[in-house]
Amino acid sequence: MKALITSGGRGTRLRPITHTQNKHLIPIANKPILHYALEAVREAGIIDVGIVYNADSEEVPQAIGDGSRWGLHITYIPQEAPLGLAHVVKISQDFIGDEPFVFYLGDNMVVGGIRRFLEEFTRLDTNCHLTLARVKDPERFGVPEIVNGRIVSVEEKPQHPKSPYAVAGIYFYDHHIFEAVNNLQPSARGELEISDAHQYLLDHGYIVTYSEITGWWKDTGKPIDLLEANRLVLENLEERIEGEVDEKSNLFGTVIVERGTRIVNSNLRGPLIIGEDTVVEDSYIGPFTSIYHHCYIRRSEIEYSIVLAHCRILDVHARIEGSLLGNDVEIVAAADKPLVHRFMLSDQSRVEVV
Ligand code: G1P
Repeated sequence: MKALITSGGRGTRLRPITHTQNKHLIPIANKPILHYALEAVREAGIIDVGIVYNADSEEVPQAIGDGSRWGLHITYIPQEAPLGLAHVVKISQDFIGDEPFVFYLGDNMVVGGIRRFLEEFTRLDTNCHLTLARVKDPERFGVPEIVNGRIVSVEEKPQHPKSPYAVAGIYFYDHHIFEAVNNLQPSARGELEISDAHQYLLDHGYIVTYSEITGWWKDTGKPIDLLEANRLVLENLEERIEGEVDEKSNLFGTVIVERGTRIVNSNLRGPLIIGEDTVVEDSYIGPFTSIYHHCYIRRSEIEYSIVLAHCRILDVHARIEGSLLGNDVEIVAAADKPLVHRFMLSDQSRVEVV
């Protein structure tokens, strides 16, 4: 059994953060999204992993390395252009060979891992095993039509979904998937669609089964998905204080303070995580917040947010909430009159003011 994990794409819905950072390396609870996928496949007993990455950037190979950190053996497979998920499978045929494999979209997060789905795939011994999640907006996803407990069709982003399920980005295949992806034509948006590959398997008499993801699953394509993923992961972490917390500070709920960090005269209401070498002074950090390494937060309030490295939030009187700050972002009180909002924003930034 092998694993094939995606780490490409352009992350257009997460701009401007993704102008300078690959979406899969954005930290959720201070750990890059892609690490969760690697941990999930390792936990399911898989060692041999292919990671498909954008050929024009070495960012992912550099950040992840050879996989030995996780006890994995990683092979990198460059994709020259974003031609679709079925194209990702197609260019990975040499790496996979004849083995069954899990195809894991590196921006998907699932609580509880993938072992149970893998066991079901092995037990049923089918050509393709999909994972389905009930969602409010199936039109954003691949959607199955289910009749008498069997998948009879799969459509990509249909206007009129035939079920309330999304096909989640965790798929199990045997080698027949290569026959499917090698016989596809590009869709209207110019991509080889993974849903068309599933439809091909159905049309050609191959057996497609499924498991329902009853717990929590997220495709972290949009900012709100990242905040929600962050909330869920934080809810399941355990308290850890490695930095210094002075006696004037109050900690409630599950709080993680990593090494080199100082919490001074502040109220921290978890679940939350504060990364390494960060200073929080005279501030309030509220639930579901992840602050990354080397930040400085002074006389400010922030909750339900993700803050990446080297950010400075100084003397901001309105509470910051539901926010996603990239690396090196500064939010500071204006030093002199007039009392105005003053912005220096990169392309495609978004600010909401009161
Ligand atoms: C892709 C697939 C879609 C699937 C989704 C799951 O969509 O094309 O079938 O339901 O991943 O995350 P995308 O995220 O590329 O829009």
